Amino acid sequence: MSTPALPVVDATSLRSWHTLSRLASELLPQSLPELCARPARFQDMSFRSGALLLDISKQRMNAAVISAFEQLTNDAGVPARRAALFMDNQLNATEGRAVLHTALRADSKDQPERVRDEIQATLQRMQALTEDVRSGHWRGFTGKTIDAVVHIGIGGSWLGPELIIDALADRYLRGPQVFFLANIDGTELTRLLPQLNPERTLFIVASKSFSTIETLINAQSLRGWMLERGAAHADLARHFIAVSSNIKAAVEFGIGENNILPMWDWVGGRYSIWSAIGLVVALRYGWEAFTELLAGARQTDEHFRTAPAQRNLPLLLGCCELWNLHFLGADSHVVLAYDHRLKKLPAYLQQLEMESNGKRVRSDGERVGAHTAPITWGGEGTNGQHSFHQLLHQGTRAGSIEFLLTVQPPHNRANHQRWLAANALAQGEALLTGKRDADSQREVIGGRGSSTIVIDALTPESLGALLALYEHKVFVQGVVWGINSFDQFGVELGKQLAVSIEKEIADGRTQGRHDASTSGLIEHLRKHLPN
Ligand code: F6P
Repeated sequence: MSTPALPVVDATSLRSWHTLSRLASELLPQSLPELCARPARFQDMSFRSGALLLDISKQRMNAAVISAFEQLTNDAGVPARRAALFMDNQLNATEGRAVLHTALRADSKDQPERVRDEIQATLQRMQALTEDVRSGHWRGFTGKTIDAVVHIGIGGSWLGPELIIDALADRYLRGPQVFFLANIDGTELTRLLPQLNPERTLFIVASKSFSTIETLINAQSLRGWMLERGAAHADLARHFIAVSSNIKAAVEFGIGENNILPMWDWVGGRYSIWSAIGLVVALRYGWEAFTELLAGARQTDEHFRTAPAQRNLPLLLGCCELWNLHFLGADSHVVLAYDHRLKKLPAYLQQLEMESNGKRVRSDGERVGAHTAPITWGGEGTNGQHSFHQLLHQGTRAGSIEFLLTVQPPHNRANHQRWLAANALAQGEALLTGKRDADSQREVIGGRGSSTIVIDALTPESLGALLALYEHKVFVQGVVWGINSFDQFGVELGKQLAVSIEKEIADGRTQGRHDASTSGLIEHLRKHLPN
């Protein structure tokens, strides 16, 4: 591996951090509407990459802030780590792994040699499988074509695929209907089953580790259901596919090697939509759509690698959030998607941001000197306006606010789209300017900045570009905080405890010591849960 040792710095001790603190104390007392009044401001502070426009001209920022952030990201080592991200590397040092999700969408000539052949071979297998299923060549156990795909997976093996399937739902040339099964809660499975025809359903068991209990229990239940519905063991090969890096476990589960598409330890779950985890996208919308998704992400990769810092979207977006969080007192990051097709984006970003950067220890073992990943939340505009936006306008907490908006709708109801856009802009303006009232309880103080991402049209390509933009934003922030954005040890403990608690509830034998509350609840549930 070729990554040189990359130093980790305490960003809060850098001179650029102190410059930013000083700039914040100068800018905070100023009137934001006045700061934003200069007509050329939009021109100067909105930036493009492909189909994406990022407008940060409503932020409490000026050129000095942007320069100081350029200095901060340089000092924190973003350029060197960014270069490493696009070559064979060891960026996931705690797990001794490379971070190569960008290779999945790179041109083959740009893919690190070590992984090129496996990526290309997997793409070919995905394409062949997609064409087999969509053309009707692939048949179920009674000889019927496939009309439904159930994607079984959770976390990064679910959120990205579900977001994309939903976002592109207005495309025609559709393949089989797609369902997702994530939660171990049997209600989800029970509601799903009546919608499926066992003779015509393909199941994708999507689990990098093939050890995630939710996915395994759901897959076992579905396998059992297929057998109950007339399939023989030998027929299951026509109905079960796996995507996993744990081939052995997938084979043990009963999936033949020919039906297992690989994942690799150099792709993190939340960065895996570009791998065979995204097969469901190809099955539903066609191979071309999947390659367009990759092409869009590739465009953002190129932009991130080469655009000057002062016009680099992932850098600017990351810095806007850092600015609000560390210097302007925001305590959460709010994503407001004014596009019904992106309603699942906040949930996807919650994993991407909080699982990547929800950490308190730097890569060198020291404590991070500031808060890391903010609580990321949000929703769909305009619905949120009649609910939680009140807090954004008049609450005591400041947020780092981001609007998303698409120009071209997938329908021809121009008045709806106009009203939708008007509402998004109105919210941004209301946050910025507010409205003074003699009565302080009615006063909307304004002075709250926001960013806006405008997408020309939501296509596989622009969606790929958008998701890669967020991946790189999270990367930039992780580097500034000095943390490894690519591990997730924090979620492991709960998984281990669940295994022993499940045994205790099942057979009553104590597996370990618990706190009094957990012991009491185990006892209570043991008595009352159905057998
Ligand atoms: O529990 C966290 C996690 O490991 C995520 O990081 C991951 O995306 C998810 O579980 C699913 O993991 P797998 O693909 O191995 O089933």
